[in-house]
Amino acid sequence: MTTMESLIGLVNRIQRACTVLGDYGDDDNTFSSLWEALPSVAVVGGQSSGKSSVLESIVGRDFLPRGSGIVTRRPLVLQLHKIEDGAQEYAEFLHIPKRRFTDFSNIMGERDLNLIPYFPHLAMVRKEIQDETDRVTGRTKQISPVPIHLSIYSPNVVNLTLIDLPGLTKVAIEGQPESIVQDIEVMVRSYVEKPNCIILAISPANQDIATSDAIKLSREVDPSGDRTFGVLTKLDLMDKGTNALDVLEGRSYRLQQPWVGIVNRSQADINKNVDMIVARRKEREYFATSPDYGHLANKMGSEYLAKLLSKHLESVIRARIPSITSLINKSIDELESEMDHLGRPIAVDAGAQLYTILELCRAFDRIFKEHLDGGRPGGDR
Ligand code: GDP
Ligand code: NA
Ligand code: MG
Repeated sequence: MTTMESLIGLVNRIQRACTVLGDYGDDDNTFSSLWEALPSVAVVGGQSSGKSSVLESIVGRDFLPRGSGIVTRRPLVLQLHKIEDGAQEYAEFLHIPKRRFTDFSNIMGERDLNLIPYFPHLAMVRKEIQDETDRVTGRTKQISPVPIHLSIYSPNVVNLTLIDLPGLTKVAIEGQPESIVQDIEVMVRSYVEKPNCIILAISPANQDIATSDAIKLSREVDPSGDRTFGVLTKLDLMDKGTNALDVLEGRSYRLQQPWVGIVNRSQADINKNVDMIVARRKEREYFATSPDYGHLANKMGSEYLAKLLSKHLESVIRARIPSITSLINKSIDELESEMDHLGRPIAVDAGAQLYTILELCRAFDRIFKEHLDGGRPGGDR
């Protein structure tokens, strides 16, 4: 692992540990500032624009609840932690910390088992997201701003924190209060307005980009387009004889970051259980053989998007290292006095979590200093 990889991994783990403490202390405590100082990526877009599909492609796993209407009714904070090659992949929810979802079911069939060595019990993860959503929203079609936290530990991911949000919508459907349209926007906005939030703005290619909910919102909260990644899904569903080059080449709506085109699984693919590895291969083939996009093929697709995001996150963290380390040092001081006050070892969860954060902060500080001592403060790529 490179130094940057281990720093990003630590940032991820510090974020997770800060979350475990919840609203520990007062509103403006070091832990919430620490969390806010660390970047994350929020997925934003209209309903059915392909948000969940993009997230699953980035993870390379099929684990999110699906269906029509507002499926994502609570924010899902998804932390991807890269672990060493050969280690067993597993998923873990914050609200059931002692349970590892490693039960590798056979849902993808024998043929695919030869293709990839690791399978989490995806159906169980999906069901737990659904159940946990219902636990708070009470099986109604209500939404709740209380996030669900899911961590995936896998050799096949890049270190990233991704947040899946309810889709922006223009009308309430039957059984939902009119206020839901506004409530969703307020919730999404509360994430994307934070300066450390990287916005993954999802727009479907088979709709006019001028009507994109994602672009409308990101333009408001990030007018310079510095922290917005434009993602164009459903390229395969465009009318024959049309293409999305004006958008993808930045002529329709200019962003500082490059636009990325995506071809996710269609509903028919999902119904046929086409697995993610096969879908990624088909996506690659789509771009490689496309008369319209062939020249952009190496800058398109979900794998490229995942790498692009990870790289961007790296550069954001690198730029923020001074402020992160000073916050971390502040946290170390505070945590040490807190630990003294509590007395250690202490069995309660809060004490254990404080201790975890302290250890992680020390590790960050140490790795960062070693890195500086190595004389390469710019990183080692
Ligand atoms: P979300 O509501 O924004 O999370 O959207 P989903 O990811 O659930 O996708 C909504 C529907 O659009 C599903 O039936 C997907 O299969 C389909 N879909 C998403 N992206 C694409 C794509 O790139 N191509 C095609 N053909 N279908 C897609
Ligand atoms: Na949806
Ligand atoms: Mg969704």
